[in-house]
Amino acid sequence: MKASILSIEHYPVLWREVLTHLPKTINFIMDGTLGHGGHAKLILEAHPEIETYFGLDRDPSVIQWFEKNRLPRLVARQANFQRASEYMDLLGEQKLCCCLLDLGTSQNQLQDPSRGFSFLREGPLDMRMNPTEGISLLQWLMEASEAQITSVLFEYGEEKYSRKVAQAIVKNRGQFQSTTELAKIIADAIPWSSKRDSKIHPATRSFQGLRIYINEELSGLGQSLEQIMRRIRPGGRLLVISFHSLEDRIVKQKMRGWEEEIRSRSLFGPGEVVKESLGKCVPRSAIKPTDLEIQENSPSRSARLRVFVKGDV
Ligand SMILES: C[S@@+](CC[C@H](N)C(=O)[O-])C[C@H]1O[C@@H](n2cnc3c(N)ncnc32)[C@H](O)[C@@H]1O
Repeated sequence: MKASILSIEHYPVLWREVLTHLPKTINFIMDGTLGHGGHAKLILEAHPEIETYFGLDRDPSVIQWFEKNRLPRLVARQANFQRASEYMDLLGEQKLCCCLLDLGTSQNQLQDPSRGFSFLREGPLDMRMNPTEGISLLQWLMEASEAQITSVLFEYGEEKYSRKVAQAIVKNRGQFQSTTELAKIIADAIPWSSKRDSKIHPATRSFQGLRIYINEELSGLGQSLEQIMRRIRPGGRLLVISFHSLEDRIVKQKMRGWEEEIRSRSLFGPGEVVKESLGKCVPRSAIKPTDLEIQENSPSRSARLRVFVKGDV
């Protein structure tokens, strides 16, 4: 597997753990966050029995990339996995053996200054994973109220100084156009004592919050997991990798909820079915990267993988 991993452009986070927790045999698999196919290549290689690997990505440039870099058995489609209507026709009648979601942005998106995701690279304030949809970050920051900006920074960025940052953004409207200009305004708004004690760039939390908001990353996540679960066959699995606690909380609550449904049934005795049972989390807690993984790929430090096995009931 070492040789394959070296030929992959996007280092697939928790790839060993993903391979370990896939079903033993797979005919149909859906990857809702295809990216540049790091996981896809490894999974296709490890599972020659796969008939079709359905790969979705909301970013049109990903699909264009796959038109030039085709992978046998991969069917790539521009679609948002949070909207079942965008991919259901692709699956047809097929029930999935597995679905993989590797949430968030890819390294390719982060490292491309023209996409406007990174405060380390000078670029336009766009931040949309699908630039043909919705409005750019700059447009939103020009139109949103100070209260709206505060709430996004607080809720999705968990930024302690959300109010101060939002005030600075509103005060400096018209003075910033680029990622680095915005990052400086944010950094200047945060008290010196907090910056001195922090290990991360002062704009990290705000950029995270703004990205989540602009791309509506969390609002429909729970519901989309429900929709995907309906398409997974008994014995199949849902694997979700998340990068921050807000995402992981939604995934955990959903999976634990599905598991609880079984428990509530057993409380009422064998003949009593309260809700349809869905399966269980295997293992029960999130899988974290090993020291080796962090050494190979330091951004994976905060990644968490949760696996849900749909019960055959
Ligand atoms: C972390 S990367 C995935 C990397 C991929 N697993 C690999 O190994 O190369 C996340 C990708 O998912 C896409 N994405 C994020 N949210 C999405 C959504 N709701 N629907 C479809 N694609 C999404 C992003 O555009 C990005 O390309």
